[in-house]
Amino acid sequence: MKILFLGDVTARSGRDALAARLRSLREETATDFTIINGENAAHGKGITSSIYRQLIGCGADVITLGNHAFSKSEILAKWQDCPNLIRPANLMSYSVGPGWIVRECHGTRIAVINLMGTVFMDGDLSDPFATMDHILETIDADIILVDFHAEATSEKELFLRVFCEQVSAVIGTHTHVQTADEQIYHGCAYITDVGMCGPFDSILGRDTDEVIQRRFDGIATHYQPSEAPAVICGVLLEIDEATGRAMAIHRIQERP
Ligand SMILES: [Fe+2]
Ligand SMILES: [Fe+2]
Repeated sequence: MKILFLGDVTARSGRDALAARLRSLREETATDFTIINGENAAHGKGITSSIYRQLIGCGADVITLGNHAFSKSEILAKWQDCPNLIRPANLMSYSVGPGWIVRECHGTRIAVINLMGTVFMDGDLSDPFATMDHILETIDADIILVDFHAEATSEKELFLRVFCEQVSAVIGTHTHVQTADEQIYHGCAYITDVGMCGPFDSILGRDTDEVIQRRFDGIATHYQPSEAPAVICGVLLEIDEATGRAMAIHRIQERP
């Protein structure tokens, strides 16, 4: 089973890049199932139901979120229209939406779990390790993939070591910068951060001039995403559907 995971889609730049490239990327890599983190898809923070439909229309099977899950309040009322959207299971701010999902692909049940780390992360968060234990007690799937949305590399590496025997992949998101430490650890695919699908010439997706004005000119600016062309960052996973064990992880990074 080939599973494509793409990192945080950021603003129009990232959405346009996926509209232009995701279909052909799926074909070239013979991808069976695609997961996209969409926490920054709507103007850099959050997601809306129409953007959810856009990303599904581009070829996403499941969309995960992160600390910006509820930044656009429209999604709170529209969640029932977004059946393949999940939010961090341990983010307690709102009780809307599931924190994990199971979908069938070619007769294989694929579970996708979304969790947030707590180190250097804001938000009303419960312990991701205890939450993960609880989810694993309830889940019934052949392949289990985790989007672990966290800032600290140490917390992501710890999560891998605690759960590597029980899941097929732990994919880090949130920092927007792809790391080069992809590996198979005890049959579990891992990368500390998969990187973003968003404006390459930017500061983590944010407009550089806006950040400069805020930092050096003392102007109380509002977050402004860069409109520069996007880098596409992700990983292609090969998972043995009979055992749920990962066989390969390949990094993808396409710069504009
Ligand atoms: Fe993000
Ligand atoms: Fe984030």
